Amino acid sequence: MNIRPAGKGDLVMIERVRRETFAHFAPAHYSAEEVDNLLENFDAAEALAMIENGSLFVAETGSVIVACAGWHREHIRHVYVKPAMTGMGIGSTVLSHAENDFQKRTSVPTIQANVILYAAGFYRRSGYSVISEERAWDGSAYYRMSKELGSPSGL
Ligand SMILES: CC(C)(COP(=O)(O)OP(=O)(O)OC[C@H]1O[C@@H](n2cnc3c(N)ncnc32)[C@H](O)[C@@H]1OP(=O)(O)O)[C@@H](O)C(=O)NCCC(=O)NCCS
Repeated sequence: MNIRPAGKGDLVMIERVRRETFAHFAPAHYSAEEVDNLLENFDAAEALAMIENGSLFVAETGSVIVACAGWHREHIRHVYVKPAMTGMGIGSTVLSHAENDFQKRTSVPTIQANVILYAAGFYRRSGYSVISEERAWDGSAYYRMSKELGSPSGL
């Protein structure tokens, strides 16, 4: 698997992976209306800003994008793994890549994530703790989570 910074030409595939993962996982935890909102609320402008900042990454096997992850300001964003490829360590690998890049480039010791309910276990396994449970504009629940990364040198 190769991890590289996303380019503008990857945006369509990134949104496709996002749609595929939400359509697969979200219906067990959210109402049909909330799932529709999740599917539609892709912030393309933010994703583009991340691409321009070099802070959105894609993971490929061959030339096929199977996952992505990145950071924007002080948040981890867009962590998605194609449903057929989950449970193989891809999510944690691509998340670590984004965290390391954030730590190297910002030196901010703490990173945050707004986490959809069913992904909380994944983030806990990756060292995040729940700060609070929040409600989005449509009433759907999510967790604010954070992780202490420390300084880039580890000191
Ligand atoms: C959540 C997601 C990123 C996990 O990706 P993945 O490639 O399956 O994760 P990994 O294989 O790297 O798993 C790492 C660890 O987390 C655990 N884990 C993964 N998903 C989990 C979940 N939903 N609940 C609890 N634990 C989970 C794994 O069992 C593994 O534990 P281990 O280290 O003890 O073996 C992936 O399922 C996904 O894309 N989901 C839909 C999109 C999404 O909700 N993204 C988050 C937006 S906030």
